[in-house]
Amino acid sequence: MALAAGLRRVRDVLGVELLLVHVDHLLRAESGEEAARAAMLAQRLSLPFTSRALKLSPSEIHPHVGVEEAARRERYGVLFEAASEIGARAVATGHHEADQAETVLLHLLRGSGVHGAAGMREWGGAPYPSAASRDISPKMGRPPACEVSTPRGREPALWRPLLREPRSAIGAYADCLGLPWIEDASNTDVSFRRNAIRHEVMPLLEARFPGATAALARYADLAAADDDALQRMTGEALEGGVDPGGRLRVAAFAEQPLGMRRRIVRGWLARAVGAEEISASRIDAVTALAQAGRGGSCVEIGRGWTVCLRRGMLSAERWRDDRQGGAMGDEPRADGVARILIDAGQIRERTAEMAKVLDAEYGYDVPLLVGVLNGAVTFMTDLMRAMTIPLEIDFMAVSSYGAATQSSGVVRILKDLDREIEGRRVVVVEDIVDSGLTLQYLLDVLGRRNPRDLRVVALLKKDKPDALEVAVDEIGFTIPDEFVIGYGLDYAGKYRNLPYVAVLDPRMYAGE
Ligand code: IMP
Repeated sequence: MALAAGLRRVRDVLGVELLLVHVDHLLRAESGEEAARAAMLAQRLSLPFTSRALKLSPSEIHPHVGVEEAARRERYGVLFEAASEIGARAVATGHHEADQAETVLLHLLRGSGVHGAAGMREWGGAPYPSAASRDISPKMGRPPACEVSTPRGREPALWRPLLREPRSAIGAYADCLGLPWIEDASNTDVSFRRNAIRHEVMPLLEARFPGATAALARYADLAAADDDALQRMTGEALEGGVDPGGRLRVAAFAEQPLGMRRRIVRGWLARAVGAEEISASRIDAVTALAQAGRGGSCVEIGRGWTVCLRRGMLSAERWRDDRQGGAMGDEPRADGVARILIDAGQIRERTAEMAKVLDAEYGYDVPLLVGVLNGAVTFMTDLMRAMTIPLEIDFMAVSSYGAATQSSGVVRILKDLDREIEGRRVVVVEDIVDSGLTLQYLLDVLGRRNPRDLRVVALLKKDKPDALEVAVDEIGFTIPDEFVIGYGLDYAGKYRNLPYVAVLDPRMYAGE
């Protein structure tokens, strides 16, 4: 309301029209009453007013994020929709210095880098759905302080004119005009992280370090300036590094320092995949893939996308539903499947690539493919059928996790090979390398039998910082450290027959 009153006073100077928009998230019983109060206040200020209710609850629309974040997305969606309808140049919000300080802390506590430390910007674009493109778009940088300008383009901008104002100054202004505060009851619920920061952490910080709020907000400004500089450099690197097919040339950024490589990968993925939510660990996995420089490996980055390195280019590939003639979409899900990571088509393509590498490596040496039972059966049969050279197969069985999702750390042979391997070229075919214990044990046992050489092909390798260092010659896909099922992999003996690799719904092992 203080924002509305302030803008009303300057609207003639700015030459703008104002519309007050109230968004009813339908989350609380009293929200209808609040809309009526907001309407009354708008009337007092003689400003046009509209209240818009969401059609569905935010959590139904965004089931994979918290209720706060879901509400935020829908709120901005409604605000920008209203702004577009009337051809508005900007959506103005009342965020102030303390909101900024809280945002910075929240981001830092989540482990954000400089971009997150910059908190909110005074000027930006619609946060959703175009947050990703905003990341690398130079036009969305903050204009010089005090300059009243909106980003170019016809999309309404997001404007936070009070971002540098202390809450006390805004409160004093509202008091002076006799404007009441509308206190949202959910703002006091400290089970929400932002409220815990606001009501518990910030008062403590202010008591111990007076001026902490202003200092955090100032830090956001410093980080924003650095972030803008780095984003500009990222944008320039991407200009020259992305080919017309949207693939990223590794050589274009391989010499950059790690921080820039990460940013380039994130910026490229934001464009290629449109994903504003790729985790830092996935960005690191893709960055490492580019750095390793070994063509043909793929990294799973979530939401049905993988990134593969081929002939010095990174490409982002979306899985297809085979049963729908190659169209994108969800595969049929089994009970217990939280989400599909890698679909049948992607596995097939990657297996064919790996088979080619093996064909070239072994030629007429007749390698012995050793499948590790039971998990590797599916991969082994597909891999050998994709190979064209003469080969032989054998199997070993070692103890697995049983019905648990954590390694017991104990490996023992349940079934040994049927033949001697002395002097043979042996390829161990694994489904997944997790802690690396099984593989290390197998390599140790087989190595002592004097094969001519011993290599490892694994369909999957988990990103696990504390895993044993075991050399895997060919990896199909690097995946996040989650328990996966399907395509041979089981949980308690089930799910091996799924044609794709999926994350097991954690509820299935909640009691473990
Ligand atoms: P490691 O010894 O921890 O590397 O685990 C290797 C074996 O554990 C694999 O061959 C699998 O049988 C099993 N395993 C590890 N992670 C998973 C998983 O996410 N899903 C199903 N099985 C797994």
